[in-house]
Amino acid sequence: MSNMKEQALLRVVEEKTPLRVVNEDLEIGKVKCVDLASEYGTPLFVFDEETIRENCKRLRSSFSNYTGEVKICYAFKANSNLSILRIIKEEGCGADVASYGEIYAALKAGYDVKDIVFNGNAKKDNEIRYAIENGIYLIVDSLDEFKKIEKISKEKGITKIAFRINPEINLISTWSTSTTESKFGISLSKSPEIFELAKKSHHVEPIGIHFHIGSQITDPKIYCDVLDKIINKMREIKSLGIDIEILDIGGGFPIPYLLFSYIDTKNAQRKKELSASYDMKKFGNNLANFIKQKLEQESLQIPTLIVEPGRYIVGNSSILLVSVQTVKDRNGVKYVAVDAGCNILQDCWTYNWFFECVAISKTGAYDKKCHIVGPLCDSGDILGKNRKLPDVKRGDILAFLQVGAYQLEQQSNFNLFPKSAAVLVNAGQHYWIRERETPDDMLSHDIIPPHLKK
Ligand SMILES: Cc1ncc(COP(=O)(O)O)c(C=O)c1O
Repeated sequence: MSNMKEQALLRVVEEKTPLRVVNEDLEIGKVKCVDLASEYGTPLFVFDEETIRENCKRLRSSFSNYTGEVKICYAFKANSNLSILRIIKEEGCGADVASYGEIYAALKAGYDVKDIVFNGNAKKDNEIRYAIENGIYLIVDSLDEFKKIEKISKEKGITKIAFRINPEINLISTWSTSTTESKFGISLSKSPEIFELAKKSHHVEPIGIHFHIGSQITDPKIYCDVLDKIINKMREIKSLGIDIEILDIGGGFPIPYLLFSYIDTKNAQRKKELSASYDMKKFGNNLANFIKQKLEQESLQIPTLIVEPGRYIVGNSSILLVSVQTVKDRNGVKYVAVDAGCNILQDCWTYNWFFECVAISKTGAYDKKCHIVGPLCDSGDILGKNRKLPDVKRGDILAFLQVGAYQLEQQSNFNLFPKSAAVLVNAGQHYWIRERETPDDMLSHDIIPPHLKK
């Protein structure tokens, strides 16, 4: 590690990710990354158990000044690997689920039904039935869905529900889910009407209000502005004789993404959104204080507070190890082709996401400009454009950082490339948590009808 700049860069990596520099090697969970790559092969997601546990604890303590009960319902969509779910459950969290499969996973991972909330804007009858039969609380996205739930509840008894409210704030961010154009929820202005209707039902009991602004919301003021409007509506709803027992403020808590090789100077707003640094303790404290004061001001009872973090719990806990397959120069551009593509880091495709990358098996200054590309037959298969890396060669190992949220989950078999396997590391130990797919695994659901078998 002779180069000063490289040392400074790796200090930032140590601060924001579980990677540690030990005797010139990069380690995660006290295991050398190069050893993991050679033992398990690449591409390989590596999750650090300790980091996930610390994130859960930090988040819990951030809301400790709230006077009512606080439930952390982890958003399964961020990563529903069973081992990860077990760790998060052991840390005392509940579950935010959005499909039959996620309810099934929550039950299988041992989550208490009292701590599960069922979200989603297009729940099917069998999903609603499954939730109701298991005593799971539902978050209702529309009047139409309410009618469907009411009908199914008639057969089953009384179902407790919340309504998802869309506060319709027009954030510029790509990850906002609560703009006027977003598909989610019921307009804030219509919410008293729908609560009044639900109150008349003999089969459904409205006890909660829910919103989810979006992801990577770096400014607590955005939550406070929405909460101000929501709590005003809670007062109106109370005047209809309905006490809100559960206030669910969704997820969206951000992580400070590393962007030391980000050179898209035209997109400064995006850079700001991705990398904003903040103190979670203050962030949570601010929100809890704001809610308490506003409830007092409106003379409302203190409801149970639910938060639904996904990215915050798992985002920084994982790296993706990849190996360099080929390196070429064409028209003065260096292409570093690795064995993972946008089928594995899907967000590079869908959101043009920026995942920072470091060289694991190579030291040296980060001064060689290149495009890092995947193996897919698609020219959009670019994991990093105009990055700076050391002078990497075929066979070198690289790591993409902060890939723990939404990536393992969204992988595809495009081009019949297997999805990446995953391991968990903890204090020098390492374990498979998702096996590597074989070609037979990938084809296992394909069926050849008899006339094509000849
Ligand atoms: C309803 C709901 N809750 C929670 C989350 C988790 O968001 P994040 O991972 O940004 O915390 C999402 C993400 O899409 C969501 O749709």
